[in-house]
Amino acid sequence: MLVLLEPDFAALSRQAARIVAGAVRSNPSVNLGLATGSTTLGMYAEIIRIYREGSLDFSDVTTFNLDEYLGIAPDHPQSFHFFMRENFFHHINIQPARTHIPDGMITGDYEEYCASYEQEIREAGGIDLQILGIGRNGHIGFNEPASSLASRTRLKVLTSETIEDNRKAFIPGEKIPECAITMGIGTIQDARRILILASGETKAEAVAQAIEGPITASVTASSLQLHPDVTFIIDEQAASRLKHKQYYRRVMEMTALLDEKPQR
Ligand code: F6R
Repeated sequence: MLVLLEPDFAALSRQAARIVAGAVRSNPSVNLGLATGSTTLGMYAEIIRIYREGSLDFSDVTTFNLDEYLGIAPDHPQSFHFFMRENFFHHINIQPARTHIPDGMITGDYEEYCASYEQEIREAGGIDLQILGIGRNGHIGFNEPASSLASRTRLKVLTSETIEDNRKAFIPGEKIPECAITMGIGTIQDARRILILASGETKAEAVAQAIEGPITASVTASSLQLHPDVTFIIDEQAASRLKHKQYYRRVMEMTALLDEKPQR
């Protein structure tokens, strides 16, 4: 596990964008796993900035989003379809047919639909680089506490904490989604590399539990401790409850000096 400490949200976003841009440059047909949420906004803006400089080509890139609210149409401003179009896809030369986001309007056989999403990921050759945010309760995707650490894409009921966190994005009085379709922890673990971003004091406890706490289904991000290639990029506030901050800083300094691929 590599823990990169950044002074603030802007620096965190630049660092994350650099890693994604590097992945696209070194493999133009890379398969990216994408997340939505406020934490990813700076990263997408920075990737778009780099793209506009002319050094990135997304025409062969394939993407799979982690999740989507159930019962929210793709043109709803709070849908993850809308988020991805507005904040990323419309600004780069990605082929719409190569972008995949779970269908929140699916009805009927959810299991069959979720299995087909997993199948699409497999047929594309698996996810090379998965981007994640983290919820206040330590969720990744919408894998709420007590999600199986072997789970696959499925329908999940959201916790009241997550529903409250999402409420601010919806118009007062509007019905807030209570369920989502999300990749499972097992699906996320299959990605070859994982990048997880966290910003702000409200994430500090979840980050400390995920990096330094026990591996537990109560904090599903802690499952990332089992993955061989995970990079946490966190700002000062989100890092405020980490016990081994000084050590993570020293690893960053030594890595820069040795000019080597950082330790994981
Ligand atoms: C979004 C997702 C969620 C968010 C998490 C943090 O696709 O899967 O796990 O990453 O809830 O959201 P923000 O960044 O809005 O705090």
